[in-house]
Amino acid sequence: MSFPRDRLRRLRETGSLRRLVRETHLAPHQFIAPIFVAEGNNIRHEIPSMIGQYRISLDQLVTEAREIAMLGIPAILIFGVPDQKDEEGSGAWDPNGIVPAAVKAIKKAVPDILVITDVCIDEYTSHGHCGVVKEGRILNDETLPLLQKMALVHAQAGADIVAPSDMMDGRVQAIRQALDTDGFHDIPIMAYAAKYASSFYAPFRDATQAGPMFGDRQSYQMDAANSREAMREIEADIAEGADIVMVKPALPYLDIIYQTRQTVHLPVAAYQVSGEYSMIKAAAQKGWLDEECAMMESLLAIRRAGADLIITYFAKDAARLLQRVV
Ligand code: PBG
Repeated sequence: MSFPRDRLRRLRETGSLRRLVRETHLAPHQFIAPIFVAEGNNIRHEIPSMIGQYRISLDQLVTEAREIAMLGIPAILIFGVPDQKDEEGSGAWDPNGIVPAAVKAIKKAVPDILVITDVCIDEYTSHGHCGVVKEGRILNDETLPLLQKMALVHAQAGADIVAPSDMMDGRVQAIRQALDTDGFHDIPIMAYAAKYASSFYAPFRDATQAGPMFGDRQSYQMDAANSREAMREIEADIAEGADIVMVKPALPYLDIIYQTRQTVHLPVAAYQVSGEYSMIKAAAQKGWLDEECAMMESLLAIRRAGADLIITYFAKDAARLLQRVV
């Protein structure tokens, strides 16, 4: 037989052939679009380190949510950027705070879009940590009641899903209990289950004007070197009642997404974080990368690794592109 019998190039010859045998697909319904909501009026402030992403005020929010829904994206993830912070983070469970107000406004105007809220006090604390601070330590159990209050306030405002991102042990169970006790049995929890202490969150901290005032998050977020531990985190959150588990960041942690997909039967979400977004944007701005190609390739890689859902700042751009090219 003449060499080679197998010619893998046969199925690559034309666009139609490539489409026919394509294994992984991207669609707008797989995306969740993050939104930063600021206090005030008429604010649409571009985040310097996240080109094309904005902190917007309530009055702009409905337009934004409508646009996202029109693109076929089923869900948004809301982050509040409050004006006031305090030691305790009390703004986090203020029923009249920025996030409950945002949830109400969106659910009223665009009822079909799913509103997911980030449950973590770091944007509301003056020290910028995700838990109660005492003598320089981040306390676990003391933080749980605060997360319960925060999740409840979000559910009462009409949030469809709550997403704890704090990485305290036992928070999924605590939040599940609080929700159930208050009659919110049907509100799912999307747990930031394997959340790493990552340098790729830096632009997000610029966006939310948050971030630790002392130390770092390594005593509660995961060590980048560990993968077996990620499976323990995922198993723990599932045992505590998580409905969706998340891996974060995405692209540098594709092996974790893959392992999670192989191990669990829940929907798996991956968070393509701010730094992943900004790297592509910045390189594209310099003309070093083709932005659309790099965007789609990175999203596809995250899907190929096994993510069902992708939280991404590219959600709108990618959805627009998918509407254009079939
Ligand atoms: C914490 C939170 C962070 C992100 C989402 N939720 C920051 C952190 O843990 O330091 C990062 C998201 C991103 O970088 O896009 N509330």
